Amino acid sequence: METAAADPGSEARWHGTRVRLLAGDITQVSVDVIVNAANSALAGGGGVDGAIHAAAGPGVMAELRERYQGCPTGSAVITGGGNLPARFVVHAVGPIWHGGDHDEAALLAGAYSASLDHASAVGARSVAFAAISCGVYGYPLDEAADVALTTVRTWLSTHRDSGIEDIMFVLRGTAVMAAFRGAFDRQRARLPERQSSTDPGGTT
Ligand code: APR
Repeated sequence: METAAADPGSEARWHGTRVRLLAGDITQVSVDVIVNAANSALAGGGGVDGAIHAAAGPGVMAELRERYQGCPTGSAVITGGGNLPARFVVHAVGPIWHGGDHDEAALLAGAYSASLDHASAVGARSVAFAAISCGVYGYPLDEAADVALTTVRTWLSTHRDSGIEDIMFVLRGTAVMAAFRGAFDRQRARLPERQSSTDPGGTT
């Protein structure tokens, strides 16, 4: 069984929350919430979506059908975790890449922030994200990684009492890992990790 392995050097503490990169299979991670890369029909599919439904069992799809009639791109819904180690699955719908001038960045950011809203609402302390839109949806990896980390960091700066202590990106493949590692480096360079209450990059 594959387990997630930490990527040394790609770890930060933003507003008291640990944020890090792991290489591995998100279906195997024992956290409160895992975040799936779903489609707006919530119909299941291949990639990480297929892996999550296969590991979770049919109850998660049954709950999706019962509770929701799809999900707009740039948003997310939540179900129980079925047979997964995770207690909940957030099904986030990222955008399909259409060249970058179709609101893709805002939609991708919306998928990440809506996921954190759901996780916080159910009292999650730990959240694991897949790399939303980084597979068949074709989002350029470096740009997707920048949106992911910037959105998580900004969300943490505006939800300081969220209760989320640990956020991880569980990544599959060397290209996506390299992209997220680069985005971590850019975060360090762009926003020095200070402790000012007005600094969105603070590490307290
Ligand atoms: N654990 C972690 N990451 C995984 C796993 C896994 N078990 N399986 C795949 N991935 C990675 C892929 O390598 C990619 O980096 O998840 C990332 C997201 O890729 P996709 O699953 O293709 O997601 P996305 O690009 O958002 O496309 C969503 O694909 O499967 C369908 O139903 C889904 O229609 C939706 C579309």
